[in-house]
This record gives sequence, C-alpha cells and structure tokens, in this order.
Amino acid sequence: MKRLSVNIDHIATLRQARGENEPEPVTAALIAELAGAEGIVTHLREDRRHIQDRDVYLLRKTLKTKLDLEMAATEEIIDIALDVVPELVTLVPEKRQELTTEGGLDVASQLSHYREVTSRFHRKNILVSLFVAPNKDQIKAAKNAGADFVELHTGEYANAAGKAAEAELERLMKAARDAAKLGLKVNAGHGLNYRNLKPVAMIDEIEEFSIGHALISHAMFVGLERAVKEMIEILKEAEH
Ligand code: PXP
Repeated sequence: MKRLSVNIDHIATLRQARGENEPEPVTAALIAELAGAEGIVTHLREDRRHIQDRDVYLLRKTLKTKLDLEMAATEEIIDIALDVVPELVTLVPEKRQELTTEGGLDVASQLSHYREVTSRFHRKNILVSLFVAPNKDQIKAAKNAGADFVELHTGEYANAAGKAAEAELERLMKAARDAAKLGLKVNAGHGLNYRNLKPVAMIDEIEEFSIGHALISHAMFVGLERAVKEMIEILKEAEH
C-alpha cells in the first residue's frame, strides 16, 4: 500500500498566529502516527513562519515512524538538519514572499550545488529527496545529483480541471516511470486533497504522499463537533 506522510506545519501556523503554546505540533504528529501515518513532514523555513527549531528537535526525539525535514538547501538550515539527523530531507525552493512552496527545484542548472549538499547528507546516513516538477530533465538531474528520491510536484495537477487535469496526471505518470527507470524512489505531494488524491495514488511507481493543508483543514471540521461538545460539558458540570 502507498504510504501517507502527514505535514503538520499548519498546526504551527495556528500556534504562531496567537504567539502562545497551543496547538502543539508535536501532539498533532503523535496523533497522526497513531492514526496510521507512516511519516511526519515538517518544513523549517528560513523565516520560521510556522515550525520553529524546537519543534524539529522535539519531533526527532518523539516520533516513532520517520521524520522528513523539508528545507531549502541554505547553510543555516543544512547545519540544523545535519544536527537533527532526520531519516529524510526533502530539498525545496523557498521564497520569502510565497504563501507555500511554489515550484519545483531547478536541479539541472545547479547540479554541483545539489550534488555537494546531497553528499553531505549521505555522509550522515540521511536520505535525500529533491522536490521537482514532473519533468524529465529535472528528474535526470536529481539522479545525477545523487538523490535517493524525487518528490514529484503535484501542484499543477491539483490546480487544473477537466482535460488539463488529465494531461497533468499523464505528466505525473510519465515522470514517475522515468524516475523509477533511473533507480530513483518516487514520492509526491502538494495540493493533494480528498477529491484529487485517488488518481495519483493509482500510479504504481509513487510510494509515498506528503499531505498537509487539506488534511489539517479537514481535521478542524471533523474534530469541531467534539470540541464544542466537550466545552459545553464543562459548562454543564459547572451548573449547580
Ligand atoms: N510537499 C512539499 C515539497 C511541500 O512543499 C508541501 C507544502 O508544504 C507539501 C508537500 C504539502 O502540500 P499541501 O500542504 O498542499 O498538502
């Protein structure tokens, strides 16, 4: 069966909005593991807009499955990753102004950089995944950089509809096949939700999905009824 890795960044987004301690992303990660997630993904961004360094270190100590640290390949974050030693790092492009990761990496034009960064992680037995568009040149470049995985960017597929979505699905199928032929393992993610996941999950070569926003958003609604009822219970208990 395909594996689900849950991205818990948006639990931290909510915490940072209030500047207090709740909700705790580590608690969310442990609940996701108990529910069957086979990994936890978290993106330590340069601007620390959601996940903080302490979250990453705590996740490292508490997770029972695996930690996939999503990150830009900058010196500061590389040093933290080499200290934390996650099972997997997923390298992504990062822009300060973006709301979420916008595109895949341009590995092809920065091959020596990604080769060097990958080998630093390999020396610490950390597997490396490169987040790329479903594009043959970038997949080949990821292989040449020494990556273990590519994570195929599903954002274009997620944003398309009708015939355009079918075409994007075709691109993902072909890219997954190209990557597997080169001996790369294949993950996928970005913009996947309860409606669009199934067709991509039917692509044989893809092993794991990294899903955050749709899952955490849905959790708010499926958990809201119980949350309201538990608060009313306290009010009832206070009646005398
Ligand atoms: N994979 C990568 C590389 C990402 O940058 C993101 C967004 O943080 C995801 C997967 C998850 O995307 P979403 O939050 O849309 O499920």
